[in-house]
Amino acid sequence: MDTYRAIGPLLRLFPAETAHGLALGALRLGLVPPAPTRNDPVLACRVWGRDFANPIGLAAGFDKDARVIDAMLGAGFGFVEVGTITPRPQAGNPRPRLFRLSEDEAVINRLGFNSAGMAAAAAGLERRRKSGRQLAGPIGINLGMNKDTVDAGADYAAAAEVLAPFADYLAINVSSPNTPGLRALQNRAQLEGLVARVGAARTRAVGAEGPPLVLKIAPDLNDEDLAEIAELALSGAIDGLIIGNTTIARPAGLRSRRKSEAGGLSGRPLLALSTEVLGKMYRLTKGEVPLIGVGGISSAEDALAKIRAGASLVALYSALIYQGPGLVSRIKAELPELLGAQGFSRLGDAVGADHRG
Ligand SMILES: Cc1cc2nc3c(=O)[nH]c(=O)nc-3n(C[C@H](O)[C@H](O)[C@H](O)COP(=O)(O)O)c2cc1C
Repeated sequence: MDTYRAIGPLLRLFPAETAHGLALGALRLGLVPPAPTRNDPVLACRVWGRDFANPIGLAAGFDKDARVIDAMLGAGFGFVEVGTITPRPQAGNPRPRLFRLSEDEAVINRLGFNSAGMAAAAAGLERRRKSGRQLAGPIGINLGMNKDTVDAGADYAAAAEVLAPFADYLAINVSSPNTPGLRALQNRAQLEGLVARVGAARTRAVGAEGPPLVLKIAPDLNDEDLAEIAELALSGAIDGLIIGNTTIARPAGLRSRRKSEAGGLSGRPLLALSTEVLGKMYRLTKGEVPLIGVGGISSAEDALAKIRAGASLVALYSALIYQGPGLVSRIKAELPELLGAQGFSRLGDAVGADHRG
């Protein structure tokens, strides 16, 4: 898999979105050999009654249209979150809209939910299911709304109804900074209505025992917003949280000349902020709600920092652009040793450890 050491620098000669398209094309054609990695049993975990061979997931946005799930499971990810998928196809914002901040190992994107739409995604997922060749591993499906929608809740519900049959969890994305009005859905009153409609749609499609509902939030929320969302989670209206999406903040110390591009920032400079918010949410939800820690993970140390702060699972995207898919095998190789050195015999024992004695 570490052909990426040779190919990565070449890919980075292209504009970021072209490079992403080339990478997806190579993955679809099967040109990237699967990683010969095993999963150390110490990394196995069970969340929402589903088994994960390891806790390292692919974050949303890499495989927006659910086209390369098996290639990414083959790269060693413990789960893959596809999307964001909108009900109707839409092109997203004008290009350029994706920028590498190489000096900072960061990315800014303002893609704006470019999506082939839910019907195309469902057709692809149905083909995958029927192929009989799919690899094992939980699939999260990340749902969004169309830019020109007049009823946000109807959009999320429509996507949930069509895609629930293929999902191990449904992620309700109310935190991307690139769709006007979307992040305003993160207030309690709006969320309660939204989650109820998505839950009802899920139940219509596959029954109440269908995939858990997980809310993906922004790392930019204030303490009051976080407390309200924690209450919603503790009430049982949602089953988990993803913390979090890209940030609209620009942390001090960014060196790239592209740091002022509009959009959401991800990658290494997001690690501290997103891990802090994750820790706050773990305390607010008293460790009772499964959390997926996302933001700035580029090593096994970073993954463990998220787990200790309260993440039952973690996911990454931006570091793949700089390190390639071999990163997953490296994290999986190093994490068991780090866990052992810190006195944990199972991954689950490390979850939230920072908040105990
Ligand atoms: C190019 C790009 C596209 C993204 N698209 C989505 C998306 O469609 N939906 C979503 O929920 N998150 C999206 N994200 C956010 C990631 O899923 C993740 O939350 C964020 O990048 C932080 O993780 P990272 O620092 O490991 O990249 C995107 C991120 C990037 C870099």
